[in-house]
Amino acid sequence: MNAQVFLTHADVKPEALVEKSAVVIDVLRASTSIATAFQNGASTIIPVAEVDAARKLITGQSRATTMLCGERDGSRLPGFDLGNSPAEYTAEKVQHKTLIFTSTNGAQALAKTRLAQYTVISAFVNVGVTVDFLIQAEADVAICCAGTNGAFSLDDAVCGGLILSKLYAKLSDKLILDDMGTALLILGRRFENSILNMLRLSTHGRKLMKLGFGSDLILCANSDSVPVLPRLKNGIITRFGQ
Ligand code: MLT
Repeated sequence: MNAQVFLTHADVKPEALVEKSAVVIDVLRASTSIATAFQNGASTIIPVAEVDAARKLITGQSRATTMLCGERDGSRLPGFDLGNSPAEYTAEKVQHKTLIFTSTNGAQALAKTRLAQYTVISAFVNVGVTVDFLIQAEADVAICCAGTNGAFSLDDAVCGGLILSKLYAKLSDKLILDDMGTALLILGRRFENSILNMLRLSTHGRKLMKLGFGSDLILCANSDSVPVLPRLKNGIITRFGQ
């Protein structure tokens, strides 16, 4: 199995994902919030790259069954039902609902994966189920870090590295990494036991703490606490295995 790494959504080349399992990682916070929404019973999530397109899509829909969710610059947008804090995606709010979801970086990364054989959405909270899926799928892997506004994000890179490290533990020499993959694997091992500290060190983590979302970092750092795998297919995200 070959594994390739893209460090930001701007770097992802859609044509390079053909016949691969694309793993979209936006630890802070889109991937964590999406997995949490499914754990709490959301039925489907429609990712939308642009805010205006998300607003258009909800027009005419019943707000009792469909919610408008996401952020720009970390904050909930006017007229949106939920922001991008995993703590907001409670069963009370999202169970049986369709969520139209947009975010600054995560939704952009998802939009680039349309040619992949499989697209799954991953964060620390669902690393284990991600690895199990990738092994079962047997396709080459593309780790697609969302990054932050086109720049490298430590949080996404460490999560990608942890996935590669766990894949390597199972596949050994059958996993072939490019140099970026090897670098990420080393990073993943370095921070495996200090994820929360790493998130607090990261640029995006510090920004979220300034905005008053410090408690989100604790949720996002909690490895394998949300063993649910969201999968994007034909523009719609569902919970894999349902
Ligand atoms: C993103 O997509 O850039 C993030 O999820 C932003 C955030 O932390 O809300």
